[in-house]
Amino acid sequence: MPETVSQLEEKLRELRKRREAVIQGGGAQRIERQHKAGKMTARERIAAFFDPGTFMEIDAFVTHRAKEFGMDKVEAPGEGVVTGYGLVNGRAVCVASQDFTVIGGSLGEMHAAKIVKAMEMAAKVGVPFVFLNDSGGARIQEGVDALRGYGDVFFRNVQYSGVVPQISVILGPCAGGAVYSPALTDFCFMVQGTANMFITGPQVIKAVTGEEVSMEQLGGAAVHSQISGNAHFVAADEASCLEMVKALLDYLPSNNQEDPPYFPPADDPARIDPELAQVVPAEQNRSYDMHQVIYSLVDDGIFMEVQRDWATNIIVGFARLNGRSVGIVASQPQVKAGCLDINASDKASRFVRFCDAFNIPLVTLVDVPGYLPGVDQEYGGIIRHGAKLLYAYAEATVPKITVITRKAYGGAYIAMCSRHLGADMVFAFPTAEIAVMGPEGAANVVFRDEIAKAENPEAKRQEKIKEFRDVFANPYVAASRGYIDDVIEPQELRPKVISALELMITKKAEYLPKKHGNMPV
Ligand code: HXC
Repeated sequence: MPETVSQLEEKLRELRKRREAVIQGGGAQRIERQHKAGKMTARERIAAFFDPGTFMEIDAFVTHRAKEFGMDKVEAPGEGVVTGYGLVNGRAVCVASQDFTVIGGSLGEMHAAKIVKAMEMAAKVGVPFVFLNDSGGARIQEGVDALRGYGDVFFRNVQYSGVVPQISVILGPCAGGAVYSPALTDFCFMVQGTANMFITGPQVIKAVTGEEVSMEQLGGAAVHSQISGNAHFVAADEASCLEMVKALLDYLPSNNQEDPPYFPPADDPARIDPELAQVVPAEQNRSYDMHQVIYSLVDDGIFMEVQRDWATNIIVGFARLNGRSVGIVASQPQVKAGCLDINASDKASRFVRFCDAFNIPLVTLVDVPGYLPGVDQEYGGIIRHGAKLLYAYAEATVPKITVITRKAYGGAYIAMCSRHLGADMVFAFPTAEIAVMGPEGAANVVFRDEIAKAENPEAKRQEKIKEFRDVFANPYVAASRGYIDDVIEPQELRPKVISALELMITKKAEYLPKKHGNMPV
């Protein structure tokens, strides 16, 4: 059968030729340009991201069918996006990686269809979806078909929210409506210097408002990680960015029906830390870095902080306790005295909801003097933003463990995962003070007249402050009501929290029937 063999060889040759053309993307010149811009190609990123040899491409031979504006003569290998699946540290993940060398990674009808198929596959089999963005946005020549493509992606971002983890990685331009897919996903990574995101670019802004701004100043990684809060993680370069995505995935379950992966701990769950007693000062007005408490608490002191440089008066991130993933939410007394403000409420509530959606227990460390006072805050809507945190904690059914290290005043005491919002175990350090407000404020309000009329008003004020401090500035009143389950020594933090977590891990939650709640967004 020599003819059949040669026919087969011919077909194999054609397949290889077609595949090779797709692999070449926009060709050597554009690849060189991509490298000169400090960026990897779509395929290099995939090679760096997945465990070696595990990536399986799908839809390599998809082509566009646009005709207008000369598109009938434009070849777009792979349609400007590489899609498929592979293993990350042994676990399956679906991916779409935009190829800027092919029509600037612009999104047309079939480019979007490829992304949508990869998303649907992720949801169907219950694995995370990772979208590597590097694109000029909607493919202008495709008009409304391109807009429809974005709409299809956004729709699935929403449908799969809370079903599988969705991660956006911004590795180049991400402009116009394209930014809304990253905004709808759970986490957004950006690379310094090469990534930018904005709704309207510098030229349009100049024409409309007269403001002059560079792409980097408008929507670079620093802007979104420090000012807008859109970016959750920033990396110095693409390789380290992809490593960070992999590290994040290691904390997450593949879908909402599974538990997060368990890593047998090297760190002793019974480890005590006598130095912790020196970290949290008994004096109300002395600040300290809550990171030190977190590092002491968690396995091997490893903490993956989310939104590290935005709303820094609250700390959120992932760690492990006795090998189990946990989400940590912690006041940061070093910034704004740890007060809750608009951005801190926003940051923490979104994180709490993510953890709850994906079965990640929550550990909350509290040192909060209250919601931040100020006209700005009131005008900005601290009432509705602050309510988000109450909502998120009250709604969360994962195990919730709270430790009050020092101040827990007023509404912020309630909001920071108090017993009253459903905390399963509440510990307090002996330095804890649980009250409606601080002793100074309380004395000034309640005894204002008595202080004013006193022979020595200042002495009277101090007397009343002391009275309040003696009565309320301790954990024992709350403990006497059972709002706090135990007052613990700081050095016992890790063993106590781990013991509570191990008990709570089998917690079963009840839900009232409803379509969905109406969070104060
Ligand atoms: C079609 C595009 C394109 C686009 C880039 N290209 N963006 N083609 N549609 N949106 C093409 C370029 O023509 C060029 O083709 C190649 O991609 C590389 O682009 P360059 O401009 O040479 O690259 P660079 O200098 O690095 O500039 C990158 C850029 C710029 C800043 C992204 O291309 C740009 O401003 N593009 C337009 C951005 C934009 O306005 N997009 C629409 C946003 S509105 P050749 O053949 O020369 O290699 C939007 C609405 C979505 O997206 C709404 C969803 C709800």
